[in-house]
Amino acid sequence: MSMDIVIAGFGTVGQGVAEAIGLRKDMIRETFGREARIVAAFDSRSAIHSEDGLDPAVLLSNKAAGQVGDEPLVDGVAFLESIDYDVLVEVSPTNIETGGAGLHHIRSALSNGRHVVTVNKGPLALAFGELDRLAKENGVEMRYEGSVGGAMPIINLCRESLMGQNITSVMGILNGTCNFILSRMDDGLPFEQALKEAQELGYAETDPSYDINGVDTACKVVILANSVFGIDCDYDDVDVSGITAITEEAVAMASDQNYCIRLIGEISPDRLEVSPRLISKGHPLSVTGTLNVAQVNTDLAGPISISGRGAGRMETASAILSDLLAIMRSNVNNK
Ligand SMILES: NC(=O)c1ccc[n+]([C@@H]2O[C@H](COP(=O)([O-])OP(=O)(O)OC[C@H]3O[C@@H](n4cnc5c(N)ncnc54)[C@H](OP(=O)(O)O)[C@@H]3O)[C@@H](O)[C@H]2O)c1
Repeated sequence: MSMDIVIAGFGTVGQGVAEAIGLRKDMIRETFGREARIVAAFDSRSAIHSEDGLDPAVLLSNKAAGQVGDEPLVDGVAFLESIDYDVLVEVSPTNIETGGAGLHHIRSALSNGRHVVTVNKGPLALAFGELDRLAKENGVEMRYEGSVGGAMPIINLCRESLMGQNITSVMGILNGTCNFILSRMDDGLPFEQALKEAQELGYAETDPSYDINGVDTACKVVILANSVFGIDCDYDDVDVSGITAITEEAVAMASDQNYCIRLIGEISPDRLEVSPRLISKGHPLSVTGTLNVAQVNTDLAGPISISGRGAGRMETASAILSDLLAIMRSNVNNK
């Protein structure tokens, strides 16, 4: 008996997931008495499938040589619908305008009674309500811990560890690129120079607009609003301003008053907002560099803060692994 996994998208994160599954193979078998097997994977052009399971090391070496499989990929949905599996790990590129191929992959998997683990923000920010209903109607789980805060387990903290609390709000730094830029502005760099440095270090994309305009943080606000507060909302419901208008002078004035400026996503029953805010130095939300952090405000436990790496191959894969193991534990619909 095994849990059979398909990985859709075999880039940075998809490869990290294969590696993590390989690394934890023995631990999974010992803990759950069953195997987590990758039975298929596909990238933009190729696919590979074996109902007997694929060796993660072979998938990684295939990809290092060019493409993950030797079968040409014509249509991801058609491929998914031609094979048998238990869980789709959806890690193809984020497209927040259309949901991209990921939205079609996730719809197909859920409609066909397969669990889904994803960190792809596009489908979640555009169609959370629809996908959540689809999962429930088909008796399967959709989990997405790594879509907000990467390795920082904010969703499971709110939904599981803080069960029974009334969560009044969540405020957080949910984009490491913006935080790096603002931290370097604290050191006296102008915005353009801090952005250039972030690009040189690989923290910011060549086109950084989704990060610096607050779009990426807004997607995470939507995911937290839906999953933690049960607010049926999408990207258009969030008030968004980014960090492009922040000047060296504003940062210096804030610093003189013992504040720093941070891009904060705020989620509460009556506020969905992304905006630069003044945070007092030493406050849990005043982290520097690419770290992510969140403060969860609760009625009984008071404020709880959590921080961690918001992105990265193994960091993001670790969140996906934990979602996969949660599905294995709940043992719903698996073989
Ligand atoms: N990187 C992170 O730290 C991080 C953190 C949190 C969330 N995420 C999310 O995770 C997802 C993957 O990110 P990544 O960094 O791994 O991106 P990436 O390195 O660019 O990899 C994307 C992969 O998806 C494949 N792909 C492109 N179009 C596809 C399609 N139509 N069907 C199937 N596969 C397709 C690409 O194929 P080729 O290899 O053939 O080009 C590539 O293998 C994104 O949604 C991203 O927002 C990433």
